[in-house]
Amino acid sequence: MIRGGLVITAGEEIRADVLVDGEHIAAVGAPGTAEHWHADEVIDATGHYVIPGGVDAHTHMEMPFGGTHASDTFETGTRAAAWGGTTTIIDFAIQPRGGALREGLDAWHAKADGVCAIDYGFHMIVSDAGEQAVAELDALVDEGVTSFKMFMAYPGVFYSDDGQILRVMQRAAGNGALAMMHAENGIAIDVLVQQALAAGKTDPRYHGEVRQSLLEAEATHRAIQLSRVAGAPLYVVHVAATEAVAQIQQARDDGLAVFAETCPQYLFLTADSLAEPDFGGAKYVCSTPLRSADHQASLWKALRTDDLSVVSTDHCPFCFKGQKELGADDFSKIPNGIPGVENRLDLLHQAVLDGRISRRRWVELASTAPARMFGLHPRKGTIAPGADADLVIYDPSARHVLSAETHHMNVDYNAYEGRAVTGRARTVLSRGEVLVDGGQYRGRAGHGRFVPRGTCQYLD
Ligand code: URP
Ligand code: ZN
Ligand code: ZN
Repeated sequence: MIRGGLVITAGEEIRADVLVDGEHIAAVGAPGTAEHWHADEVIDATGHYVIPGGVDAHTHMEMPFGGTHASDTFETGTRAAAWGGTTTIIDFAIQPRGGALREGLDAWHAKADGVCAIDYGFHMIVSDAGEQAVAELDALVDEGVTSFKMFMAYPGVFYSDDGQILRVMQRAAGNGALAMMHAENGIAIDVLVQQALAAGKTDPRYHGEVRQSLLEAEATHRAIQLSRVAGAPLYVVHVAATEAVAQIQQARDDGLAVFAETCPQYLFLTADSLAEPDFGGAKYVCSTPLRSADHQASLWKALRTDDLSVVSTDHCPFCFKGQKELGADDFSKIPNGIPGVENRLDLLHQAVLDGRISRRRWVELASTAPARMFGLHPRKGTIAPGADADLVIYDPSARHVLSAETHHMNVDYNAYEGRAVTGRARTVLSRGEVLVDGGQYRGRAGHGRFVPRGTCQYLD
């Protein structure tokens, strides 16, 4: 029994005790009712919030990129997630170019199987959207891989052209899958990259300059139109630009099934970081890129209006030493990605403290909405009888400093180094097992299981 906390879900805040039986929540009861409950173990949550475990719908453990691999394995990355109060991740399996979706999915299952600390699902990156891949999509949906990411960026790597995208979307319209889009005009960006390099502009800050917000907006617009033509829903990942938000807002105002996420790096960091001296900007190279503070204001507004409905991390860590350094003479060779799976709940909690979002919206953005979006609700993302006992006892007044010295992600820097935050996961449970408690790690590799997902629950 978890006693004495303030239970916060997307829908309500109540003083209640939570009874866990085995892997599930058995009951949620006002303090009076709970007196009659019998529990073998009582966890005191007085002065704390009790929230559903975080659901991070966008991670890249061990992702191959630019000749190297993201530095967190499924083992280290899911452990770090648990430390930060996230109890489910949805990672991206990758179709090998020239290969089958099945090959990619099998490979990702092999990486994750038996080593994860928390539960996990997979999206599929379609990097070779030919006839074969389209034909395989239905089978993946049946196995609980109900969302597919495509890229309008990265020509020659993950890029799909508009025809390929349309074909995959048409199939998604038939099988209930959610098409996810990396919306940046990669063909135009590559021209600007070559022009910048030819002009001797090799520093990380040019990564931000060439990946213009207009090219994010253009691709977002195109993705929306293609999804309309196909009659399929769309989810735009890692939205960073005001102009892209405007496209999404327009589509939603028109009544279309268009959804989008942003990530903490776009809410809390700006392109100024890309200009850090001594190649330090490389730590902040990700795509879409960090933008200026005025874009941040648009993102915060869209989080309030629900034009952005999910905050995920796009956790894709590369060490500064040896990995980010691959681009020391050429920003286009810096592996793209920022670590953050451990820091998402705490960073977003700062927005609760400064009044930008409510506590319930915090829970919704970090847990409930991603669970609904990707077919995991109510098993994940809420506190209710029958749900998995994935619970975080959150201390809203614990102060700590984000730092590579103390974080648990397998990466040699923290993008928020030195930032003081208030609020921290004290006790973290996954399916009734305590993973973290008061600074002690009690989880184990292999506790986490693959979770087959249903289809998007915003379309039911
Ligand atoms: O820079 C990023 N976001 N790296 C991960 C791959 C992607 O596009 O999400
Ligand atoms: Zn992407
Ligand atoms: Zn990503």
